[in-house]
Amino acid sequence: MKIAIIGADGQLGSDLVKTLKEDRVFPLYYPDFDITKPEKTKKDLSKLAPEIIINTAAYNKVDESEDNPYEAFLLNSIAVRDLASICSSLGFVLVHFSSDYVFDGRKGEPYVEEDSANPLSVYAVSKLAGEFFVTNTMKKYFLIRTCGLFGEAGCWGKGYNFVDVMITLEKQDKPIKVINDQWVTPTSAAELAQKISELIRTKHYGLYHLTNEGQCTWYEFASTIFSLTGKKPDITPVDSETYGAKARRPSYSVLENKKAKEIGLTEFSHWREALKDYLIKKGYKQG
Ligand SMILES: NC(=O)c1ccc[n+]([C@@H]2O[C@H](COP(=O)([O-])OP(=O)(O)OC[C@H]3O[C@@H](n4cnc5c(N)ncnc54)[C@H](OP(=O)(O)O)[C@@H]3O)[C@@H](O)[C@H]2O)c1
Repeated sequence: MKIAIIGADGQLGSDLVKTLKEDRVFPLYYPDFDITKPEKTKKDLSKLAPEIIINTAAYNKVDESEDNPYEAFLLNSIAVRDLASICSSLGFVLVHFSSDYVFDGRKGEPYVEEDSANPLSVYAVSKLAGEFFVTNTMKKYFLIRTCGLFGEAGCWGKGYNFVDVMITLEKQDKPIKVINDQWVTPTSAAELAQKISELIRTKHYGLYHLTNEGQCTWYEFASTIFSLTGKKPDITPVDSETYGAKARRPSYSVLENKKAKEIGLTEFSHWREALKDYLIKKGYKQG
């Protein structure tokens, strides 16, 4: 398959490039390829003429989005609208990513694709607007909501991923405070890339929740990182209010991979297994 990957050196993008190596992949890198410039984007993409375009580009800084709504909306909504209409007019399939943060957390049990969104932050509203632009502009799309990604490249938008931050703080011997009242599912970018590789070979277009199995709080996630690596840092669980992040986040944003299971995609591993693999790959833990 001829596949263009936007944001090819990002956290998920770089795992997609590795996973799709048997395909004809065209990695596209920012700033040379910039989806906020629709005319050049259209020109470049029509020249490439891929069957599938995978867009991993996003403004991922959740707290900073509260002060920079324009930047969040430009990349997460307006550029996505332009990309969706380019793909629609040129007949390309679009794979686009959204977030567990489109939900408000009040359900208190895993969210399925049919559940109603109610975003609590600028970032979450901008991602949901991006979703609407895809679903209302296109017929052939895979729209994927995921959660708590950890990949070898780290999240370029943020400059880190949660696992690497915890490992660094422990090395620096700093006291660590981690939120213990937000439930999520940490998800391996490498494993997500494998599922995307399976999904795009089907014609089952639409909205999907794709995360590893299981759930935990950020504190439990951090504690597991340390128990698997045999470290004993000074770590304290805190609630969201005490932590005082700028943007509101859902207290529960665990996603159920309902549609992926219905169409028979191979199942994700438990997040603990995926974490173990990641720690070994990064050399944080012996195999
Ligand atoms: N990370 C998470 O925990 C998480 C959770 C839920 C959903 N998601 C979603 O999953 C997707 C992938 O996330 P990620 O963690 O892989 O993000 P990432 O590491 O920040 O990667 C984004 C990539 O897009 C590039 N990019 C930035 N601005 C661009 C532009 N204007 N035009 C084209 N490319 C641009 C970045 O390049 P530079 O690095 O050079 O800026 C980077 O290569 C995103 O849609 C995100 O919202 C992520």
